[in-house]
Amino acid sequence: MARKIFIAGNWKMNKTAAEAKALCEALKESLAPLAGKVEVAVCPTFTSLATAVEVLKGSNVKVGAQNIHWADNGAFTGEISGAMLQEIGVEYVIIGHSERRQYFGETDATVNARIKAALKYALKPIVCIGETLEEREGGITNSVLDKQIRGGLADITAADMANITIAYEPVWAIGTGKTATPDMAQETHAFIRKTLVEMFGEAGNEVVVQYGGSMKPENSAELIAKEDIDGGLIGGAALKADSFTALVKNGIGA
Ligand code: PGA
Repeated sequence: MARKIFIAGNWKMNKTAAEAKALCEALKESLAPLAGKVEVAVCPTFTSLATAVEVLKGSNVKVGAQNIHWADNGAFTGEISGAMLQEIGVEYVIIGHSERRQYFGETDATVNARIKAALKYALKPIVCIGETLEEREGGITNSVLDKQIRGGLADITAADMANITIAYEPVWAIGTGKTATPDMAQETHAFIRKTLVEMFGEAGNEVVVQYGGSMKPENSAELIAKEDIDGGLIGGAALKADSFTALVKNGIGA
């Protein structure tokens, strides 16, 4: 099992550049005492990325984008390339979030293409997977995740996995206030871990697997205490400095 803890804030379509700057300034200060104890990143919208990189330079808070296109450049209105993200100093990129799968036609094949583009430009993918409520109730959670993992990570090497984070986010828990119980999340994380080990051998044991879906300061400790839960991908609770800081602190028992 990986025991590096990594917690990332997914700001989604929130925060203007001025608001993002203020939040980054606050986090730079509040998270400074945790340097060396936990990997932390924030993922603002494209228009705030350069500001976030600038404000957080030299701090222990990393910056990630929320999407990347698979082509180097070209006629893809509304998309962003790996070179563009790399140039401004972005380190991570979220790929295949369920909102992108649900509203923007993302598939395991496009996830796979975006992961390859990210790796080409030395960006670290945070690859999101997760089942819907219907799929969980239908008892097909594991087969859904197996398909997403094997499809999304097709042709990816064990060496590449050192730079890839998996975020398990049950769709029914995102933004709903409903969190998977720590035991339920652990059970699914153990399945994900087993699948990664089948695919990548020992390297699969080292992959950081985050939990996402209504993680907050009140439940981060008990979730992250679980053997196969190596951190979190945080939406709502990442939008305020005090809640994100408390969530991270509680998550690592600081
Ligand atoms: P949430 O979102 O924490 O607001 O549930 C998590 C996510 O979508 O990454």
